[in-house]
Amino acid sequence: MKVLHVVGARPNFMKMAPVYRALARNGHEQILVHTGQHYDALMSDVFFKALEIPDPDESLNVGSGSHAQQTAAIMSRFEPVVLAHRPDIVLVYGDVNSTVAAALVCAKIGIRVGHVESGLRSFDRSMPEEINRLVTDQLADVLFTPSVDGNENLAREGIRKEKVFLVGNVMIDTLIHFLPRADEVFPGLKAELSLDSYGLVTLHRPSNVDDESVFLPMMKELDSLSEKLPLIFPVHPRTAQKWSARLKQCGPNLQVIAPLGYFEFLALQKNASVVITDSGGIQEETTYLGTPCLTLRENTERPITVTLGTNVLIGHDWALLRKEFQKALNGGHKQAARPPLWDGKAAERIAEILTQ
Ligand code: UD1
Repeated sequence: MKVLHVVGARPNFMKMAPVYRALARNGHEQILVHTGQHYDALMSDVFFKALEIPDPDESLNVGSGSHAQQTAAIMSRFEPVVLAHRPDIVLVYGDVNSTVAAALVCAKIGIRVGHVESGLRSFDRSMPEEINRLVTDQLADVLFTPSVDGNENLAREGIRKEKVFLVGNVMIDTLIHFLPRADEVFPGLKAELSLDSYGLVTLHRPSNVDDESVFLPMMKELDSLSEKLPLIFPVHPRTAQKWSARLKQCGPNLQVIAPLGYFEFLALQKNASVVITDSGGIQEETTYLGTPCLTLRENTERPITVTLGTNVLIGHDWALLRKEFQKALNGGHKQAARPPLWDGKAAERIAEILTQ
């Protein structure tokens, strides 16, 4: 079988890597297309290297733009590429603009699409990713879900259950595979950043970083929390670009740094006393690692991280943030269980299903 993978943005890379490896073990021909949605070395190249992903066979170099511009650019550049390769199936990952753009192209020209990390819903259509999820799942021919809520959402949306496979979480496959490497880099990183106990922060969602009436009070809270526990804040380019002046004014205990590599970030998550984030993937990784996670969003498309995991939805309730932060420091945070099938074998299940 000829399988073509489409990736474009940072979180796609860790989802694709184990699927690529598992399909290679099954002897399938594979083509890797990078849309170029993320292009900075720290957002892309370092992950290809660390995760041992081969260089892309095709690079579409679309770069940044409005949602319409970016999605359209991916579609028009991807169409001739997929027509030239004529794969048996195209695999798309997660919920970024590259995911929906590639799915739409394939659906129109009759090439089968498989969606990895299907069925997740925040039920919040103001999130660009929610639109991408809904549309991609409607278009996909084979849908791989990470948890049972995904199957329930897809059934509710009228998607035939013969097309849907509960396989587990591919991002956790990558975490499990590379955890020993993260453990290796931690002592050096700890020394480099002068860390003892610390919390880890990431923020990049438009709902948090685009509007100053949200972002500035959030930064004030983080500054104040950092007086209780030093915080490390690797900054996403989107946030850095908009707020470079404000980020320079952070107090001495709120350490603002460039985006980290995969092993380094994983090591920091594992050893942090608490993680404050608005990322989807980090809600899952902290649940697996058992690290308390405080999510600065009103909702999550990954409810299992709240029901089973360490995740607490904070929204913009600063009193709740302070309370939960203190709980994490006192060791009073809720205990977590690992969701079923988050066992490092999700990609193998995908490869088995595709090979049948
Ligand atoms: C994208 C995804 C989001 C995912 C995130 C992970 C969509 C709609 N959003 O958000 O779901 O959680 O990736 O990182 O697909 N930029 C750079 N260098 C880069 C890439 C981006 O400087 O390599 C800057 C550009 O100014 C760009 C902005 O970041 O306009 C936003 O990039 P974009 O790809 O549109 O969305 P993300 O916020 O990265």
